[in-house]
Amino acid sequence: MKNRVLILDFGSQYTKLIARRVRELKVYCEIFPFNEDFQKIRDFRPGAVILSGGPSSVYEKKSPKVDKEILQLGVPVLGICYGLQLIANLSNMKVEGAASREYGLSRLEIIEGSSSRLLRDIIQHSRVWMSHGDKITQFPEDFNVTGRTENSEIAVIESDKRRVYGVQFHPEVVHTEEGKKLLSNFLFDIAGLSPDWNMENFIKSAIDRIRREVGTEKVILGLSGGVDSTVLAMLLREAIGDQLIPVFVDTGLLRKNEFVDLMEKFTKQLHLNVVGIEAGPVFLEKLRHVRSPERKRKIIGATFIDTFSGVEDKVGKVNYFAQGTLYPDVIESVSVNGPAAKIKSHHNVGGLPEKMNWKLVEPFRELFKDEVREIGRELGLDPEFVGRHPFPGPGLAVRILGAVSAKKIRILQEADAIMVEELHRFNIYDDVWQAFTVLLPVKSVGVMGDLRTYENVAVVRIVESIDGMTADWYPAPNEFLKRVANRIVNEVKGINRVAYDITSKPPGTIEWE
Ligand code: XMP
Repeated sequence: MKNRVLILDFGSQYTKLIARRVRELKVYCEIFPFNEDFQKIRDFRPGAVILSGGPSSVYEKKSPKVDKEILQLGVPVLGICYGLQLIANLSNMKVEGAASREYGLSRLEIIEGSSSRLLRDIIQHSRVWMSHGDKITQFPEDFNVTGRTENSEIAVIESDKRRVYGVQFHPEVVHTEEGKKLLSNFLFDIAGLSPDWNMENFIKSAIDRIRREVGTEKVILGLSGGVDSTVLAMLLREAIGDQLIPVFVDTGLLRKNEFVDLMEKFTKQLHLNVVGIEAGPVFLEKLRHVRSPERKRKIIGATFIDTFSGVEDKVGKVNYFAQGTLYPDVIESVSVNGPAAKIKSHHNVGGLPEKMNWKLVEPFRELFKDEVREIGRELGLDPEFVGRHPFPGPGLAVRILGAVSAKKIRILQEADAIMVEELHRFNIYDDVWQAFTVLLPVKSVGVMGDLRTYENVAVVRIVESIDGMTADWYPAPNEFLKRVANRIVNEVKGINRVAYDITSKPPGTIEWE
């Protein structure tokens, strides 16, 4: 048994959040799909298991199941929502459809005298987030019911003898007031795990792993200017020194002055020996007349690889290619009803061709963005770099809806630069996850001076998020919006109207394409 947690995914939209919470408590965890080969689960040797929620009902024939052995691994198991009902099902309890679905906030009451370990030191009445349609109606004697809500008489069950625990609500979402405490009770008091997952340890072991993996070979790293690839550059330099070849490509799809500014920062501030390649016209030519977002991504991915390959002409054959792929990019949510719908190509990896001549080096595959930022800080990266907003690989191409042209890029760069400038002036930049401007292929009528105008619409999008997986639109101050709209319409020829995007994710995505 190792000091780590296995999370089995039964299709809940919150599964990745469980992983985040466990990591925040400094315990390493991984998500496996519910139908993972059982030997792999045994080999992982978890110190505790969490069964996620999911959209199904356990009594449905086709609902996702797991072998009973999951309750007999000798380590504590916590079932959340569907996970609880599954435990009930595997332990011969009775689960029935509830009279009404319970969704949203509810109040958890700890049942007095129930001596709960899971709810230890949690306030008597606390807010919890519910999302379920089934309830347990009968259970074996060696289970204790320790918590209830208005609509669920059995909201928390515990069996110290079986080392099996379950909650009907979602402790992983922020709306559940005492969720973190509950998870910490489970991990530390019940499972006896220790909080040893920290970035200092990660850096040490990642450096060893990278050295073992690439030996004395050269590694090409694609820098995007975003935080992930910059932190990766710092880590790789630590690990393999001059074997690292960081490459920064001007796709022509970067923000205004970004290529020149960043080249200077990379070389002068971070002392990285960056190969800068100006390939704007090549990208633009390949994207001519292309309207489909997915095709844009694929074309850009392939053109990146062609451009990187050109580096080999200068430095000789290279066998390794590094990129800052993160955990949320790697774990697709499992689909319990057939293959998951593809929303967008995988962010980092997605645009890349299926067949490449390089082996991938992706040391951040198991990390969340805030963990990468912490590594950046540990490695002494300037706060300005650590706090940079994410920027998508395909750049402005996915923010210019429809076909891309040099003129539209220029227009969007100007509008976006104004927006970012004001973001700093109003001290908003560091408070939000991401902010940018989108150019719509839609014209509207306006009036300037005494003249009629007929020009394009720009949209300002600012979102708050913890990890980009879900996001809320940012309620920007009126003064900021007024100033941005005013400046864009007055200063950018080609835009005569500005709109503000008030869509959250889901149902919207952060980028428009
Ligand atoms: P979405 O639009 O999927 O974006 O809600 C979530 C986060 O991922 C970024 N993003 C990308 N990053 N290549 C990238 O490197 C891409 O193709 C890509 N698409 C979206 C997006 O900016 C947001 O931070």
